Amino acid sequence: MATTPEQGNKAVRALAYPFPDGHRLDVPPQFAELRAKCPVQRVELPYGGAGWLVTRQAEVKTVLGDSRFSRAASVQADIPRTQEWPNPGGDILSLDPPEHARVRRLISGAFSRRNIERWRPRIEELVGEMVAGMRTAGSPVDLVDSLSMPLPITVICEMLGVPAADQHFFRRFSELVFSGAGVPAEDVEAATDALMSYLAEHIARHRAEPRDDLLSELIAARDEDESRLSEEELVTLGVTILAAGHETTANAIANSVLTLLAEDLWTSMARHPERVGTAVEELLRFIPLGGSESLPRIATEDVTLGGVTVRAGEAVFPAMVSANFDENVFADPQTLDLDRAHNPHLAFGFGPHFCPGAQLARTEIRTALAALLREFPDLRLAVPLTELPWREATALIRGPRHLPVAWHH
Ligand code: HEM
Repeated sequence: MATTPEQGNKAVRALAYPFPDGHRLDVPPQFAELRAKCPVQRVELPYGGAGWLVTRQAEVKTVLGDSRFSRAASVQADIPRTQEWPNPGGDILSLDPPEHARVRRLISGAFSRRNIERWRPRIEELVGEMVAGMRTAGSPVDLVDSLSMPLPITVICEMLGVPAADQHFFRRFSELVFSGAGVPAEDVEAATDALMSYLAEHIARHRAEPRDDLLSELIAARDEDESRLSEEELVTLGVTILAAGHETTANAIANSVLTLLAEDLWTSMARHPERVGTAVEELLRFIPLGGSESLPRIATEDVTLGGVTVRAGEAVFPAMVSANFDENVFADPQTLDLDRAHNPHLAFGFGPHFCPGAQLARTEIRTALAALLREFPDLRLAVPLTELPWREATALIRGPRHLPVAWHH
């Protein structure tokens, strides 16, 4: 029986959220408990009060896919949040349908399956060069510096049409943008401004001299019909693609290699390269790249969800990481099963904001893993697991800062 708002929403004690889940790739144990006992849990955030944490896949999909839950309503609002500052908005993730589709349509062609297939040879070529570079450098090398970071950066720069040679500049700033609650608001704001000016400069150059790249395409869309994209939206979209296009995939590659090595699965994978596609889906499900945090949605009307009533105006946090371990969806979810056949994970989200870069990310991760398994079948960690340097504990995207690896042959 669904509890009334008065009974249910007041009777339950709010848990402090986010959970202190450290900075490694472990999943907070509270998720399993909540899925079993209280799939829509009252939680207290560091700023803006209390909201709801949603932990089972069915309800997470409702929050992500149902138009009664809004991202736009989180803009500039004093809603429960992990960061001191409210969501400034202006980006694609802060728009609701049908408005959202106006911006989304502009990038869907560039990241479509067909277009990413056109990029595959270039991705393979880059991976080949980087793996050859690792051989030349000799064992041991840092996988982050030699492959997992430069690969997605180079690809997204070439797609957008900005020089990959600038990566040392924007790598630092995009890491700050994804830094989460651990960094002062002014630093994140300064980093965002620096990336915005950088993109604005390139937009001016591309306007003067259009080329065959995504930035020129977006500029043309904006200049042909200003109702499709404002100038600020154009710049912000460029920054989002540049930052989201590499931080995520880079850490996903490093985390995947690390997990296969740490779980002693590298050698058996190297013997069966045909398993890479299925294995990558399982690694995406199993590794909590984004930690336990997720972007809140605001209920636009009262909604009954998982037995409680979420009131209009309340914030709801869809825990995609928890949904990826839902016992109702996945057989033996705590096991990393590289041959898992049925794997409807939510690593790329769900609904209107489903990651447009999913196909690109998959292609990069698969190509990188396949080449590393082929070239270095005896790869191993060059330092003990406990000595790996990690990104900040509060980072919105988790992964090792460096990943020293070694090989014999
Ligand atoms: C392993 C790599 C990646 C993962 C795990 C990932 C994950 C996600 C997730 C979970 C969302 C939805 C967030 C939400 O609804 O709250 C998302 C959205 C998005 N991602 Fe990715 N992503 C990855 C790679 C990429 C790449 C390569 C790009 C390059 C373009 C990209 C661009 C975006 C953008 C622009 C959005 C917002 C889409 C919208 O609001 O319509 N991502 N991503």
